[in-house]
Amino acid sequence: MTRPLLVDTDPGCDDALAILLALEHADLEVVGLTTVHGNAPVDATTHNARAVLELVERPDVPVSRGADLPLISPLETAEHIHGIDGIRGDLPEPSSATQPVDSHAAQFIVEQARAHEGELTVAAVGPLTNVALALAIEPELPALLDELIVMGGAAFAPGNVTPLAEANFHSDPEAAHRVVRDADPTVIGLDVTRRATLPASWIEGLPRDDPLGRSIYEWATYYTEAVLERYGLETAAIHDALAIAQVVDEDILELESHFMEVGIDSELDRGALVCDPHGVTGERPNGRVAVDNDVDVDRYRELVIDAVDRALEVQ
Ligand code: BDR
Ligand code: CA
Repeated sequence: MTRPLLVDTDPGCDDALAILLALEHADLEVVGLTTVHGNAPVDATTHNARAVLELVERPDVPVSRGADLPLISPLETAEHIHGIDGIRGDLPEPSSATQPVDSHAAQFIVEQARAHEGELTVAAVGPLTNVALALAIEPELPALLDELIVMGGAAFAPGNVTPLAEANFHSDPEAAHRVVRDADPTVIGLDVTRRATLPASWIEGLPRDDPLGRSIYEWATYYTEAVLERYGLETAAIHDALAIAQVVDEDILELESHFMEVGIDSELDRGALVCDPHGVTGERPNGRVAVDNDVDVDRYRELVIDAVDRALEVQ
C-alpha cells in the first residue's frame, strides 16, 4: 500500500530533487505540492513546482499556492544560491494542466490531512509559513497527520544564514516557532542534511543531452565553488531530499526526542533551533530531532540515484 505524502516546498534545486524522489518512489503517493515563499518569491516557487511536474511528466499532481510573505519577518529569498528564478535547469513553461487549485496551501494541507486522516505525511522543506497557517486553521492538525517532517534548523551546529539560524527557519522564525512548539514535528536540521551529498562521479555521468538530464545535473551542482569551500564539501548538499528519504526508510537517520524551541526574541537568535538534549529546561520533549550519528548516506544516495534512473528511463 502506498503512503500519502504532501510536500510543502519552495523549489529550489534541492527541493526539485526531493520532489523527484517523492514522485518516483513506489511506496509514496504524492497528494500535492504546496508552495511557499523561500528560495524565491512564491510566484516563482509556484512556477518552478509546476515546471518540475511538467518536466517529469506528472501534471496530474495538484499544486496549491501558499504564503507570499512570512508571518512577521520581511521576505528573504535565496536566488544567489538556487539561480535567478530560484531554480536552475532546463525547465518547460508550465501549461494549464498544472494550474494551481483554488485552495490556499494552508487550507489544502488541512483538507488533505482530513481526507487522509491519520495517514498523511507532510514533508515541509521550505519556510514554515503554510504549516503554521494550517495549524492556525486546524489546531488538531498534528493528530490528523501520520507525521510532519521538517527540513530546518541546525540543532547542534551553526546556521547557514546567521551564525545560529538555518535558512528555512530564519525566513519565517515566528512560523517555525509555532510549528516546533505545537505540531509534534520530526526535525531534520542542517547539521544532518549537510551529509546529503551525491557522488561527484555519478553527477558527472548524468546524461545532459535532454532537458531532464540537464536539469538534474544542474540541481545536483547548485553550490558554487565558494559555497563548497565554505562548508568543506565536495558536492552540494541536497538537504530536502534527505527529508523524503527519511519518509521511505526510517533507518536512514537516528532520531532523538527532545524539547526544542525556535528563537524569536532578538536579531541574534531569530530562527535559531534551540534543542535541549540534556533536559536542563525540565520541559518535556515536543518532537524528534535528527542527530548527526550513523546517517546512512549510502542508503540515501541509493534512493536518490534509483529515483533519477527511473525518471530518466521514462523519458
Ligand atoms: C534549506 O534552505 C533552502 O535554501 C533549501 O531548499 C533547503 O530547504 C537549507 O537550509
Ligand atoms: Ca527548500
